[in-house]
Amino acid sequence: MRRIIGGMAGLGLAALIAACAPVADGAAACRVVRAAGTPTASLGGLGNPPMQLDPAEIDAMADCLAPALDAAMARARDATIRATRGWRAMSRTYMASEHGMFLKVYANAAAASDYAKAERGGRLPQGAAILKRSFRVDMEGNAAAGPVFVMERMAPGYDPTTNDWRFAVTAPDGQRMGESGGQNAPAVAFCADCHKSARVQDFLFFVPPRFRVAD
Ligand code: HEC
Repeated sequence: MRRIIGGMAGLGLAALIAACAPVADGAAACRVVRAAGTPTASLGGLGNPPMQLDPAEIDAMADCLAPALDAAMARARDATIRATRGWRAMSRTYMASEHGMFLKVYANAAAASDYAKAERGGRLPQGAAILKRSFRVDMEGNAAAGPVFVMERMAPGYDPTTNDWRFAVTAPDGQRMGESGGQNAPAVAFCADCHKSARVQDFLFFVPPRFRVAD
């Protein structure tokens, strides 16, 4: 179920990320520094292929970027995202993604307990929201905060083709890049296209087991 990333859907995501302008937060630059000659194998992702990081490097970049990642949430136009206090981490760490980013999954209070049951969670209630924060690292080792990806369960009838999930992407500067059923909807149509393959589990893919937070 998880290894289906690629093709046009993946390219859509790469285009969205490429459209993200870097944001100056006044914070020190975050950079992975390695001894000269150390290979930096590429994951071969779409768009900017990322540097392959070991777990300690991922944690170091997540710590360094924490102020920028928090600021991205706080300045989001999307009120669901700004409700930062309600978010609970659902993955232990940022995970390398085939899309050329590192992602960490969070759920709000309405989503958390059922989402944590993963494939046994059933249909999440109205108001449930799950998001992924992201950062990327280029081949020179420079790390930057990336977009916030959100799924939110809307009122019954919002969109019967997606079990009433709204898919949205917010740039690190807080601007909404696209929202299903709203602004710039075509730019995020590929979200639902891919998540539909998880229709039998409420359109959710869940955190890969080895990254899940124990409930
Ligand atoms: C090509 C397939 C694919 C596309 C396109 C895609 N996703 Fe996902 N999504 C996944 C997979 C696989 C996961 C599981 C976690 C992971 O590996 O990142 C996931 C997880 C998520 C989650 C956490 C909830 C869950 O399913 O467990 C959110 C929120 C999310 N995606 C939002 C989006 C948004 C918003 C878009 C469009 C901008 C999008 N996704 C596009 C495959 C996709």
